[in-house]
Amino acid sequence: MARRKKIYEGKAKTLYEGPEPGTIVQYFKDDATAFNAEKKDVIEGKGVLNNILSEYFMTGLNNIGVPTHFIKRLNMREQLVRACEIVPLEVIVRNYAAGTMAKRLGMDEGTQLPRPIVEYCLKDDKLGDPLVTEEHIAAFGWASQQDMDDILSLALRVNDFLAGVMYGVGIKLIDFKIEIGRVYDGDFMRLIVADEISPDSCRLWDIETGQKLDKDVFRRDLGSLTDAYTEVAKRLGVLPKGATPMAKPTLIN
Ligand code: C5P
Repeated sequence: MARRKKIYEGKAKTLYEGPEPGTIVQYFKDDATAFNAEKKDVIEGKGVLNNILSEYFMTGLNNIGVPTHFIKRLNMREQLVRACEIVPLEVIVRNYAAGTMAKRLGMDEGTQLPRPIVEYCLKDDKLGDPLVTEEHIAAFGWASQQDMDDILSLALRVNDFLAGVMYGVGIKLIDFKIEIGRVYDGDFMRLIVADEISPDSCRLWDIETGQKLDKDVFRRDLGSLTDAYTEVAKRLGVLPKGATPMAKPTLIN
């Protein structure tokens, strides 16, 4: 059988050439990494959950007119996406202080911010994805001023959508990261939401208890990551009741 062509292997996903030109198959692995891959593990079932959750968020965004790379889910671990050129920035939107911003500015985690704050980091693992300003982005040509206006608008629309969806199921959207891709329609270039949106790339806290339902569970050793992600999927109604995609086969005597 012919092997399909691997285009790129990242920390949590592998990309393969898609069935048609301009498409890519995005495979979600079970690998979990944190602190620029200093902490690593394999968490059975994580890829399945992130595939389903990213499908849910990206489909919702497409449906409300926020363009994304998502075309369709192919199976439990793979989805078909539109090929795009990734803008070399991680776009972070924060509603509450947490993580690196809380540390950098000496704030208590969970402090509500006066308005959503958007930050940009250069996508460069060797440098540990350093925070950059719009000055750096313009001066080094990573994105134009027009691109930055569009990226800010996309990021805030994604924030409103995600925060609302999460609020509806009793979850507070603390912050998240998205990546942006360029696609070309004839002579025109458009920016779309790419990569993934999942509890790997968001901070999600239960509104009532403050329980963390995101990758901080892995980063900070707070318990079972699959239990946390399964809880998010169940609340959003994307996991059939009683289904455990991560369960090992059981022997039936
Ligand atoms: O670590 P930090 O507080 O800067 O992360 C902000 C948000 O961006 C968190 O939701 C985190 O999960 C996400 N993030 C990510 N990938 C990175 C860095 C941050 O998904 N490389």
